[in-house]
Order: sequence, then C-alpha cells, then structure tokens
Amino acid sequence: MTMTMSGTMSGGKTDVLISVSEAKLHYKVGGALAAMRGKSTVVKAVDGVSFDIRHGESIGLLGESGCGKTSMGRLLLKLEPMTGGSVHFDGYDLSTLTKAQLRDFRSRAQLIFQNPFDAINPRFSIRATLAEPLENAGIAKSEREGLIIKALELVKLPHPLSFLDRYPHQLSGGQLQRVVMARALILQPQFVVADEPVSMLDVSVRAGVLNVFRDVRDRLGLTAIYISHDLALVRYVCERTIVMYLGRVMEDGRTEDIVREPLHPYTKALVAAVPVPHTDQSHAPLPIGRGAPDPRNPPSGCVFRDRCPAAHERCAAEVPQPKHVGDRLVACHLY
Ligand SMILES: Nc1ncnc2c1ncn2[C@@H]1O[C@H](COP(=O)(O)OP(=O)(O)O)[C@@H](O)[C@H]1O
Ligand SMILES: [Mg+2]
Repeated sequence: MTMTMSGTMSGGKTDVLISVSEAKLHYKVGGALAAMRGKSTVVKAVDGVSFDIRHGESIGLLGESGCGKTSMGRLLLKLEPMTGGSVHFDGYDLSTLTKAQLRDFRSRAQLIFQNPFDAINPRFSIRATLAEPLENAGIAKSEREGLIIKALELVKLPHPLSFLDRYPHQLSGGQLQRVVMARALILQPQFVVADEPVSMLDVSVRAGVLNVFRDVRDRLGLTAIYISHDLALVRYVCERTIVMYLGRVMEDGRTEDIVREPLHPYTKALVAAVPVPHTDQSHAPLPIGRGAPDPRNPPSGCVFRDRCPAAHERCAAEVPQPKHVGDRLVACHLY
C-alpha cells in the first residue's frame, strides 16, 4: 500500500474523501525533431504522487512554476487522462466512472480558474455566466435567478442584482474573480481546486478575495486544494501543505510545522525566500541558484539534487521515497 499522510484505511470506514495513489501525468512534447536530437519527448508533469485528502481538509499545493501543480489539480478533477496510478473520489475510481457517476462527480468537484477569462465568456452577461452551469445541471429556469443571487451574495458582491446585466469588462479584477468563484460554487460542490485564484489580481485586492475564499470554504465545509507558488498565501489559507518539485512530492505536512522547521532542502529554500517589503518583487530569489532543470531531462535519482546544497552520491543513484519524520512525509535521503 502507498504511504500517505492521513489514510485511515482500517475497518472499512474512512474519513478520506480523495485518495491519490502513484498518480502520473506525462505529456508528449517536441515531436519528431526533438526525438531525432535525442531529447526525450515526454514531460513528467506529475510522476508518482500519492496523498489522501480528508473531508473538509484544505491542502496547499506549493512549488515553483512548472513543478506540476496545475497538472495535479487537473488529475484530481478528471480533466486530463491519467498516465498511471489512480485517484479515488468518495470511493469511486475516477478512471472507471459510469456516465451517471461522472455527472455526479462533475457537480461535486469544481475548478476555480487562475485566469477569469478561462472560466467565463466575455460576451456573456453575469446572469448568463452563472445560469450556464445551472442549465447544464438541468435546474429549472424559474429557480435559476434565486440561485444566482444567492451565489453572488455568498462571494460578498454587494448589491448582487446590480451585477446581473453587466458584462465581464465592466467589472474590476476582484469583482470578476468573485464571479468566477460564484460560478464554481453555484452547484454547491463538495470539493474545489483553486488554481492560483489571486495571481492575476492586483496585490491590493488579493486579501479581500482570499478572505472570501476562506470564508466560503469554512461556511460550506468545502474540501479544497489551494494551488500557489507563494508560501505566504498557502500559509494564510491552508493547514496542510504539499511541496512539489518536478512532478514529485518533496514534503507533506502541517503548514505551520513546515514554515517553522522545513525538513526537505527544497522546502528550506522556499521558506528562506522571504517576502521583500516595498518592492515589486514579492519574494527574494530562491537561495539555490539557477532555475529548475529542463523537465524533459530531469536529473537521475532525486530530481532536486542538482540544486541541492546537501546532495551526495546516493542522491544520483536512488529516488528518495517518502518517509515519515514525525507526522510529516519527506522524500530526501537525509532522513
Ligand atoms: N498541455 C501540456 N502539454 C505539454 N506540456 C505541458 C502541458 N501542460 C503543462 N505542461 C508542462 O508540464 C510541466 C508542469 O506544468 P504545470 O502543471 O502547468 O505546472 P505548474 O502549475 O506548477 O506551473 C511543465 O514543464 C509544463 O511545461
Ligand atoms: Mg499552474
């Protein structure tokens, strides 16, 4: 059995909503020319990731751009075909859902997009934007308006009636992201993946939108994955954090433990990159030099080793498996 943070598999009863086991999502890239040059034509965006998500739990998926966070989120929502492994949702294997189960899953699990315009059509009024999922779910026309207003109230848009006939370009970034949230929540899902939901917003309105997200999540008892490259945001939103690097989990544990005493050398680097106040850069550069390696040709053994200040021989030879250190999981040969 795969080792995960919170699985309680004994006795048949479980408080786990989602169980991810050795999940893989590999993309084919480059094509024939790259193959001729001997470049691998596969990006292992997610490469053997395992964790459980309990009912009502909020987990931050943290790591630099390109480490596979969005890909992992898309696997959790069955928006990509899995290359390997499995995701179970409430006992169902997502790769073998019947049509009826898939419809049920689609209403229970939702994505909150990073870019509002991925979620909404600029030519639709706010009313039409929010009516669309209701229509798709077969909700009677007479009931839709009431649900739309409720959803706008939920995300704390004042005077919701005044928004119904407006168009996306007439809204501010913060208002628009609230509409995106309202759209994801209007069918009262049980589980949401929020993919960098404030990264496109002006810094001055981020806190407001994040507070709405936290408030709604707690009020509805949502189970949530919050994706971000920003540890400060994850810390603000999530009790538990999973740190990813090049498609793999480096560390998984309580956010406060990770911030206070990071164990994995990569997590240490993330924690050390503290915010720099009063600059455009919200963070100092990572103290581990160069960017992440070419994802088509990751290092052998530990994928982090060529940036790791503590790398030794074994790290090139052997992929570190996640180990329990206290109540944390760490994938590093130092432990
Ligand atoms: N549709 C795709 N086709 C090919 N490669 C992709 C695709 N989507 C993402 N990738 C690659 O997969 C890796 C992980 O990407 P992504 O999951 O978007 O990371 P993150 O969200 O952490 O920035 C990156 O190397 C990215 O270039
Ligand atoms: Mg992403």
